Amino acid sequence: MKSMTYTTSGESIRFTAAWRPSLSVIAAAATLALLSACGGGSDDSAALARAAQAAQAEQGKQIFRFDTFGDEAQWTDTLRMHEVIRSAVDPVTALSVGLKVDAEALPAAVVAGIQNGSIDLKSPATTVALLKLNAVVGLKGTVEAVNGADTLTRVGITCALCHSTVDNSFAPGIGKRLDGWPNRDLNPGAIIALSPAVDAKEVAALKTWGAGKFDPRHNVDGLNKPVVIPPAYGLDGIHRITFTGDGEDIAYWNRYVAVAEMGGLGTVTEPRLNLSITHGTQDLVSSKLPALQAYQLTLKAPEAPAGSFDAVAAARGKLVFEGAGRCASCHSGATFTDANSRLHPASNSMAEPESPSYASRSATKQYRTSPLKGVWQHAPYFHDGSAATLDDVVQAYNRKQALGLTAPQAADLAQYLKSL
Ligand code: HEC
Ligand code: HEC
Repeated sequence: MKSMTYTTSGESIRFTAAWRPSLSVIAAAATLALLSACGGGSDDSAALARAAQAAQAEQGKQIFRFDTFGDEAQWTDTLRMHEVIRSAVDPVTALSVGLKVDAEALPAAVVAGIQNGSIDLKSPATTVALLKLNAVVGLKGTVEAVNGADTLTRVGITCALCHSTVDNSFAPGIGKRLDGWPNRDLNPGAIIALSPAVDAKEVAALKTWGAGKFDPRHNVDGLNKPVVIPPAYGLDGIHRITFTGDGEDIAYWNRYVAVAEMGGLGTVTEPRLNLSITHGTQDLVSSKLPALQAYQLTLKAPEAPAGSFDAVAAARGKLVFEGAGRCASCHSGATFTDANSRLHPASNSMAEPESPSYASRSATKQYRTSPLKGVWQHAPYFHDGSAATLDDVVQAYNRKQALGLTAPQAADLAQYLKSL
């Protein structure tokens, strides 16, 4: 068996074991306090406030990418994923279930080794080495020498697992991080099903999910119907979060998912669902929520790539969107959603009726009109992924709402959606 041939000094690889306020935030806050005490000019204080905001967002980025909130309790102590990974998950397998590798975390020697084939991508030891480099997006490993061999002793997950991907600039699945982009290749069900702690009935349920989908209610209500992993970008100004608009700010859902789904240490309470979950005796979630939210609010929906749509058809499609298609009656304003003023009955979703209805499992029992900025980027569409393309979305509306759009109108409307 070939193993990784490069050497790295142990010191250069550091896992950010726990979140702590970065020095820059403290410095910015201190300067701000000092300045206001000295009666500093308002331009200066505005600049400093912006600097403090940027520092908080930077902190949130570290949390988004690298913080597990102590969820090793779930992924290591309960699910024993560290045993599975170190014995059976080589990089080829890892990539095949949609895990991504952060090329910027790879030292030059590793890049060369992958390129010239001297690094064995069919060996689980290579996965452990990548985890030691903190290079697997959304997985955080603790690698320790056991009997002289690097051994994965703890593993946890971060937000980036589902809500980041990479740009494939080095190889498929290996590239620069794209935070906020949903990882639609990731197969969380298949990954959790590898756990030796999961029984056969549950394995069968998890295997029905498929790539790009996750059921964040399954372990709460016992029902089983996954939703697509949504983008975590483009949410600035939207005060209804999730497909069903359960929370008024991102932090609401961040707390839910960090505790209830990732297994982080802390508490989530949702009276509307009669839900109260506490993990552990310390709270590793609450203090991080403001910075985490600040970072997410900086994540802009990506612009449609030049040449990816027909601009002339899209201009005609805009008229259909606002006119015959009646789309703008719900997809309104700069973010293309009326979420801040209302939610909609389940029947307004073109993916309904479904069984079990996702809305019925939520706190609001309704759906939020989906924001559409960057919609070109994250097929398939609707909460259940039932529309494979934007053309399929238009067909679904045209048919179910009897809009009577002609074929050219429908095609133009799809081009417009691709341009948003
Ligand atoms: C295992 C995959 C997974 C992980 C890990 C995960 N999420 Fe999610 N996330 C989802 C799914 C699935 C949904 C859709 C749930 C819904 O809308 O009902 C979602 C929804 C969201 C939304 C709502 C988006 C919108 O359009 O309103 C935000 C924001 C979000 N997640 C942020 C996070 C953050 C921050 C973390 C880390 C604390 C995280 N997620 C961890 C899968 C995941
Ligand atoms: C009555 C309100 C309403 C109208 C009218 C409406 N939509 Fe929607 N739209 C929604 C809701 C609610 C959802 C979320 C459905 C779901 O996820 O199941 C949605 C979802 C979508 C999505 C999927 C976005 C994603 O992230 O998956 C697209 C695309 C879309 N609508 C386009 C359109 C177009 C095009 C029209 C006009 C033909 C239109 N909508 C008319 C309420 C509306």
